[in-house]
Amino acid sequence: KKKITSKTFVDMKQAGEKITMLTSYDFTTASIIDAAGIDGILIGDSASNVMAGNDDTIPITVDQMIYHARSVARACKHCLVVCDMPFGSYQISREDGVRNAIKIMKESGVDALKLEGGIEIIDTIKGIIDAGIPVIGHLGLTPQSIHKFGGYGLRAKEEAEAEKLLSDARALDEVGCFGITLEKVPAKLADEVTKAVSCATIGIGAGSGTDGQVLVYADALGMTQGFKPKFLRHFADVNKCMTDGVQEYIRTVKESSFPNVDESY
Ligand code: KIV
Ligand code: NA
Repeated sequence: KKKITSKTFVDMKQAGEKITMLTSYDFTTASIIDAAGIDGILIGDSASNVMAGNDDTIPITVDQMIYHARSVARACKHCLVVCDMPFGSYQISREDGVRNAIKIMKESGVDALKLEGGIEIIDTIKGIIDAGIPVIGHLGLTPQSIHKFGGYGLRAKEEAEAEKLLSDARALDEVGCFGITLEKVPAKLADEVTKAVSCATIGIGAGSGTDGQVLVYADALGMTQGFKPKFLRHFADVNKCMTDGVQEYIRTVKESSFPNVDESY
């Protein structure tokens, strides 16, 4: 199978072939997800929540993202590898954003970057694309703005915010983004954006009309407990699988049946 590039994503949109993405943050998990045949892996700044146990994505740093991204990039032979630029690494100025983008590319070996926001950061995105780096935008519920939003609820329910999202999407498309992540927005709006742009839309909680879907792997595979928003489906029960395995390990050690003779030197 050929290596997937940012161009492949746009080709897939044009061909009407759905694009599949999951997050990963480490070598072992990314190896499994890549080998399973996924189209793209996102090193999300959700690593802040999933890997580090923080309440939000605000604290994760560029160097921490690079550590995760480098681990994932080493594992991926087939899929497109996209890394989130973390909060604070592109909001100060175009120059600072381009410098951090180049640092992440050089030190991690990923294929593309993702940034949250529309027209506010369009100059920075243009600078990053002009440097030769493929970019995916991210609109709707952008978790780096959680303190501004005051919660993780549905975005762009009202006309004004929906219109701004549509013009942000057009701006990202025109500046040369190869994709746009649409998070937690009405399905009807996501359909409209998908038809309005030539780049690929990747939805999470945005209905089935987007060109592709993305989920946090730990949520999709049923590892995380107590997080089950309506948009999420559990495609496996890895939590139960791991719990059963750990308890079997404990049981056999306690009864001295592990390790057995064949497992000893
Ligand atoms: O950080 C993340 O996991 C994301 C998503 C779109 C899943 O940005
Ligand atoms: Na993210």
